[in-house]
Order: sequence, then C-alpha cells, then structure tokens
Amino acid sequence: MTSLRIRKNEIPEGSMVEYFFPDGKPWERKPVLLVNYKNQIYALEALCTHEGFSLEDGFITDDGKIVCIWHGSIFDIKSGKVVDGPARRNLKIYKVEQKDEEVMISE
Ligand code: FES
Repeated sequence: MTSLRIRKNEIPEGSMVEYFFPDGKPWERKPVLLVNYKNQIYALEALCTHEGFSLEDGFITDDGKIVCIWHGSIFDIKSGKVVDGPARRNLKIYKVEQKDEEVMISE
C-alpha cells in the first residue's frame, strides 16, 4: 500500500504543500497535494487534470475550492470534483487519517 506520514504542523492552515509518496524509485514517485483547509487536512492528486500544472502553485478560496492558475480550473477540496473547467476529470482524493499531530495519507 502506498502511504505517507507527516506532521500536521508542516502544513499551516490555509496552505497547500506538494509531497511525494515514498514508494518506488525517486523518478517514479507520485506527487500528492496536502491541503489544510479550516484546520482539516485533505489529500488530492497534485497535478491539474487539464494540462498537468502543479496545483500547489494555485490558491485556495474561502469556500473550499482550489484554483489552478494556469487556465483557471476550479476543484472542490473535499471531493476533488471539477467545479469549473477547462478541466473535465475530477482530482483523485486520498484517504487521510489523523491522530493527534500526525497525519497518514494512503491510497
Ligand atoms: S493546467 Fe490547470 S487549468 Fe489548465
């Protein structure tokens, strides 16, 4: 199983940080976007499903959306669903378990 363990304080409230699952060879590692929205951690596919731009370079809206700054696609943080295109495919979301200050992300 692919999993990643981090400390919650590595992702301040209102920020997005791209990590890589540690499994496999360095060039094969899959990126995952961790988002701290209202003090809750969410894990999503890290690259925009339109043309693969890094969503870490985008921004979070007050109502829980991630905006890709390349062409403006908007995704829901909690579900990964496309709210507005040009992206058509939803972002994959990963399982997040939180225990005290430790966060475990897995597929
Ligand atoms: S790459 Fe994200 S909207 Fe085009």
